[in-house]
Amino acid sequence: MEQEFKNTVITLYKQNKWKEILDLDNEHMEPFAKNILWVWPSLENFDFMKKLIIENGLFGLTSIGCGCGLLEWMFKEYSNLNVIGYEINREWWTSKYSVPMFIDHIYSNQENKVELNSKYALLFCYFNDRMAFKQYVRNYNGSLVLIIGPGEGRGTHTDPQPFRPNFEGNSWVLYDYQEVKNTKDFIAAYIKH
Ligand SMILES: C[S@@+](CC[C@H](N)C(=O)[O-])C[C@H]1O[C@@H](n2cnc3c(N)ncnc32)[C@H](O)[C@@H]1O
Repeated sequence: MEQEFKNTVITLYKQNKWKEILDLDNEHMEPFAKNILWVWPSLENFDFMKKLIIENGLFGLTSIGCGCGLLEWMFKEYSNLNVIGYEINREWWTSKYSVPMFIDHIYSNQENKVELNSKYALLFCYFNDRMAFKQYVRNYNGSLVLIIGPGEGRGTHTDPQPFRPNFEGNSWVLYDYQEVKNTKDFIAAYIKH
């Protein structure tokens, strides 16, 4: 079942059918879907993210901890914006055991001190490393951070959480948010004061 689901996604990816992947009935596929992507957004969610990027005068999206990059690839195809994905553990991702990669990775160094494009929004989707989050945000001179993760009652864990990001200092303020379909996962957008 899991392999079947993965194969369907890969086949559609090869045919460039991002919309069909977005429309897959992943609700019944959990937890298989999670091996590829933790949240399965809607077109409305993509509209919301694109609007946020454009109205803040930005040109693209940098996703930290993008995993296999399926969300990032679909968003890129949908939006025509540039999308960059950062990961760690090159050995794993380039091994025969890893799930397929849908976008190219940039691999972070140990201290997560990477140069981040300030004209791109910064995305953390189901990210789970507080110290790394802090370091990436310190390195980012742009104005828009998107956090996707669980809201109240979802029963999953991320760090940062969309509504408890615990930024250092108080220059980041909540700008807007939207639920991912009716999953209790949320996309929260923070802008710099
Ligand atoms: C729970 S997964 C989420 C993957 C993907 N964003 C998703 O929503 O399906 C967290 C990802 O963050 C990556 N990660 C963890 N620490 C990282 C770091 N310091 N820099 C970049 N990626 C990191 C992990 O390798 C993993 O792929």
